[in-house]
Amino acid sequence: MTIMKRIPEAELMTDEEQAIAYANADFEEPHNHFIELLKESVGHVIPESGLAVDLGCGAADISIRFAKVYSAYQIDALDGAEAMLAEGVKAVNTSGLTQRINLIHAYLQETTLADRNYDLIFSNSLLHHLHDPMVLWNAIKSAKGDPSVFIMDLMRPGSDAEVDALTNKYAKDEPEVLQRDFHNSLKAAFTPDEVISQLSAVGLEGFNVLVVSDRHLTISSK
Ligand SMILES: C[S@@+](CC[C@H](N)C(=O)[O-])C[C@H]1O[C@@H](n2cnc3c(N)ncnc32)[C@H](O)[C@@H]1O
Repeated sequence: MTIMKRIPEAELMTDEEQAIAYANADFEEPHNHFIELLKESVGHVIPESGLAVDLGCGAADISIRFAKVYSAYQIDALDGAEAMLAEGVKAVNTSGLTQRINLIHAYLQETTLADRNYDLIFSNSLLHHLHDPMVLWNAIKSAKGDPSVFIMDLMRPGSDAEVDALTNKYAKDEPEVLQRDFHNSLKAAFTPDEVISQLSAVGLEGFNVLVVSDRHLTISSK
């Protein structure tokens, strides 16, 4: 079977128009799905209160949803793009969660997770942006203590026709900039087998890799 070649996209979402469109898009279904799957996979092992970090938080929608469900958590929400963080600041202010969500401008390659005692590391849709996926796995591997981990991302379809079909199914009513982003993101994403190899290379082979929808996979600690 031939595997469609990965075409990386820009790592940081630095474009203001793109950031505004992303922040205003309707992510209700996939982002609620993220929280439900997080609960199912690591909800039973994380402490009731604690410190979490959201890697590649973007406009902070996932951080906010997490904070509302896990009401005794503090969250460090980190992103390398100022344009996205600016949208995150607005959303966190509106949500009234400024005391619990700490937005941090940081490039993952230059950040250590070894300075703070995180109970949970989570991330949505960051992995496919990274030119070198090992940046994420090395950061997780070097985290202090033994945090639980829950990651969700897109997975790369087998063909251009499938990319077009998924773009049409899920993004056809979105602004053109988001349709283009979703299309490019599907092509930049990793396959489950590639993720399994990445985890094995860094010594995280105990993690679970699951296909959870026609376009998403999750990676979680046991
Ligand atoms: C598709 S968005 C996802 C945002 C958010 N997690 C969500 O689900 O709504 C990916 C985010 O990762 C950020 N990002 C990509 N590469 C990064 C890196 N190397 N360090 C920090 N942030 C990064 C981008 O700037 C962007 O905001």
